[in-house]
Amino acid sequence: ERFVVIMAGGSGTRLWPLSKEKKPKQFISVDDGECMLVQTIKRVCKCVPPSNCFIITNESLVELTKEVVKDIIPYSNIIPEPRKKNTAACIAYTTVLLNKKLGEGVLCFVPADGYVKDQQGYADAINLAFSAAEEKERLVVIGITPSYPSTAYGYIKITKDAGLEEHVLKVSKFTEKPNEDAARSMLESGDHLWNGGILVGSSQTIIREIKENIPQHYIEIANALRYGGADNFNTYIVDAYNKLQEISFDNAVLEKSSDIYVVRASFDWDDIGSIDTLSETLQKDNDANSWKGDYIAVQTTNSVIYADGILITVIGLDNMIVAGTKEAVIVCPRGKAQEVKGLVEILKQKG
Ligand code: GDD
Ligand code: MG
Repeated sequence: ERFVVIMAGGSGTRLWPLSKEKKPKQFISVDDGECMLVQTIKRVCKCVPPSNCFIITNESLVELTKEVVKDIIPYSNIIPEPRKKNTAACIAYTTVLLNKKLGEGVLCFVPADGYVKDQQGYADAINLAFSAAEEKERLVVIGITPSYPSTAYGYIKITKDAGLEEHVLKVSKFTEKPNEDAARSMLESGDHLWNGGILVGSSQTIIREIKENIPQHYIEIANALRYGGADNFNTYIVDAYNKLQEISFDNAVLEKSSDIYVVRASFDWDDIGSIDTLSETLQKDNDANSWKGDYIAVQTTNSVIYADGILITVIGLDNMIVAGTKEAVIVCPRGKAQEVKGLVEILKQKG
């Protein structure tokens, strides 16, 4: 049986102040439709029935998740995590848990924070990855044609002789978030794809890879579920999570494993890594301003204006970002939105 698990436990700093700790990125709408989490659920439900679609998120976000998910998938498919320990813990816990509760199956982990226009292309790639994972009994990731030397993504080196038409290729090397020089040379090499952040594998395969590369993750989680039972979030899981190393699955497993496959996908995709990227997804007015919410812009061009529950008014701006909620507003030149990370750090210190 095939299952999709939406990983929705991100920290919410990158789109600050639109997103925040109590309302991370997946709850933000980046176009004129629903929030990214709901769009993700609808997208993956083209591949599996809603009863086979799960969401793993922080315990503190379960209520908000229920609210936005409404009755699209059963509430019992929302898996609470005691704390944020990055994707290696999230994938290890879900896989061992579902394996125990539902028996063996093939799992597809997808991020909740991506933006995709081509719904069918996305579903096609996932279906292909499911088939490849079943056939090869290996981990399968989804690769996207890179367009600039991003340092925010994983890079997948494919075997050169694979032929362009082939859709399922062997990965020869996986590099998570390279520095700028490395990113540039991988982009120029022409034999690298971006990692789309989607992982497919049978529960057996995923467990085997976890045991090989991060055995402690397997031991802690399997023990916690053995002693505490798989039906309820229990104190054994809390203890296990406290002990687990905070590391991404990409760093812990994908960079280490030597036997991974990639489905070359053609759908357009964006990780919405900063408010600046909203210029790609929001609607545009006649002065090339990308906008959402209540705003009035006079003599203003090429800017991003996002008003969440407030009125934003601007005069004489070019190439600027103005985004805010009732609680906070950010104003900065476009291209500087990445720096919001540093700003959030300062905010944290202030308390
Ligand atoms: N439940 C849960 N628990 N979810 C988590 C946790 C956690 O501790 N940590 C992260 N997530 C979720 C995020 O909410 C997001 O949907 C997804 O897992 C990926 O995490 P990110 O933190 O957004 O990763 P990234 O964007 O820096 O990098 C990953 O995605 C890129 C594509 O967007 C990597 O897989 C890269 O290789 C990839 O290119
Ligand atoms: Mg991300």
